[in-house]
Amino acid sequence: MLPPRILGLLVLLLAVQGLCKPSKSTEELDYEGDTPFDEEDEEEDDEEVDNTGIAEAPPQILSQAISIRVKAGSTVKLPCQVVHTDNYVFAWMKDDKYLYVESQAHTEDYKRIVRLPDNTLVIYNASVEDSSDNYKCSILRNPDPIVLTHRLLVERSHQDPVSPPPQHSHKGIIRVTPERKVDVEQGHSITLGCETDIQPPPEIKWFIESKKVDNYNPDDVIVDGNFITIKRVNESFSGLYQCLAEDGSKTPPMEAITVVVHYKPRIEVEKSIVYSGAGMESELTCIVSAYPEAIISWHKDERKLTHKKGSIVMHHGIGMKGNKTKHVLKILHTSARDFGEYKCRAENPNGHDTKTIFLTGVPSPAKIYGAEMINDDTGLILKWRLESYSPINEYKLQYRRKGDKEWNVVKPEVKDGTGNQFMIEYPIRDLQPGSYEAILKARNTFGWSMESEPHIFNGDYPPDLPLKENSASVRSPGILLALILVVLSCAFTTL
Ligand SMILES: *[C@@H]1O[C@H](CO)[C@@H](O)[C@H](O)[C@H]1NC(C)=O
Ligand SMILES: *[C@@H]1O[C@H](CO)[C@@H](O)[C@H](O)[C@H]1NC(C)=O
Ligand SMILES: *[C@@H]1O[C@H](CO)[C@@H](O)[C@H](O)[C@H]1NC(C)=O
Repeated sequence: MLPPRILGLLVLLLAVQGLCKPSKSTEELDYEGDTPFDEEDEEEDDEEVDNTGIAEAPPQILSQAISIRVKAGSTVKLPCQVVHTDNYVFAWMKDDKYLYVESQAHTEDYKRIVRLPDNTLVIYNASVEDSSDNYKCSILRNPDPIVLTHRLLVERSHQDPVSPPPQHSHKGIIRVTPERKVDVEQGHSITLGCETDIQPPPEIKWFIESKKVDNYNPDDVIVDGNFITIKRVNESFSGLYQCLAEDGSKTPPMEAITVVVHYKPRIEVEKSIVYSGAGMESELTCIVSAYPEAIISWHKDERKLTHKKGSIVMHHGIGMKGNKTKHVLKILHTSARDFGEYKCRAENPNGHDTKTIFLTGVPSPAKIYGAEMINDDTGLILKWRLESYSPINEYKLQYRRKGDKEWNVVKPEVKDGTGNQFMIEYPIRDLQPGSYEAILKARNTFGWSMESEPHIFNGDYPPDLPLKENSASVRSPGILLALILVVLSCAFTTL
């Protein structure tokens, strides 16, 4: 699970996508006796001008003139939505002085008075001096420009000199670079950017697949201003990169870039040795990670396997998370000649990878699962288990005290297994103090198993404890010791 802080941010991120609409932050009050503006400035479309064969839609201002009265310190938004202005220059003016021509600021106060990409003029921390009946947005068409005029009255605020924090959340205020979807080759570097007109410039926070970039090694992921650079990408850098403009509002603007890393296949195997038996169904599995998707083939003894070979079934491309696919080779009725070395090979335009899986009929290596004191405290019973898909012919147990050259070799009794599970118990008596190791292996018709991991145990038990079976008070040290030994052996088996 994600830490609550990040989770909170995520919820916020999601909320932003749905809720990011221009907020009504200004107190819109009509002037007393306010009348609609006369329309003389708003040119009617002059269709004849453009009527020269190509039907070009005339530029137009869609927004309506407004009159706003606010208290000093407020944030004011003056809208000016336009259409068909591709071939025309657009400007904001106050009292016939330019504030903006296109996105170019013509005012020293450009940090406080901002033109948004949708042409809205935003005035933060409005002051009395900002008042004017003559805020004009214009499409500079020659000879007759199209003009919309707004009126703003800013009133001195007497009681509260502390202005409220600016509220400015708008959708689409962030521009991403280089694109919304970026394809990159493994090993190359990428730089992504999120630029904004928001003033004052907000801090840009980056998330990779909803994880904060702080969690990444700064040598691999470099955040610099509005840009993030990944030095040498690998597949783990595929995903959604989100940038959030921390403007202090509840719904900060955000954008996202999808990064697709192209990389050569990488194969993992579930089991590098598969134990099976005659007549059994055997299953070999390779998990392939690649983009673009890889083509998989199975090989045995340098020969490529095909579906047609009767008892072989291949399942390709069972989808998994994150561009991983699972590929299964099934041998329906395994016979002795099917045992051996298999290879799965994955190839895509970026390269290839191969992994080997052994299919064998011998027993699996034995695993120790218990060690118990013998009743009279003179030794220890060791217990193993293993899998075999054919009956066990014999076991071979060898043990020695650490430092001794010679092994004691014994043959534990073979007992029937349940299904393919076999248990082996062997009591080792007359142990001398010291540390011992024991190794077991098993043989069936297909041969010897690999040796078990050496099991280390201790022969260091008190030899002269009085032995009185039914006396609880005396028995307890023995039990305690047995417990210690079991715990010890468990600790070793988990190594
Ligand atoms: C708002 O403007 C006033 C002067 O008009 C200035 O003293 C104040 O510091 C400004 N507040 C902010 C938050 O910029
Ligand atoms: C990808 O690169 C990062 C940083 O260099 C590294 O920590 C990670 O293990 C790599 N992942 C893979 C799948 O190679
Ligand atoms: C593989 O990765 C790409 C880019 O990262 C992604 O668009 C695609 O959905 C992924 N496919 C799968 C199956 O996860």
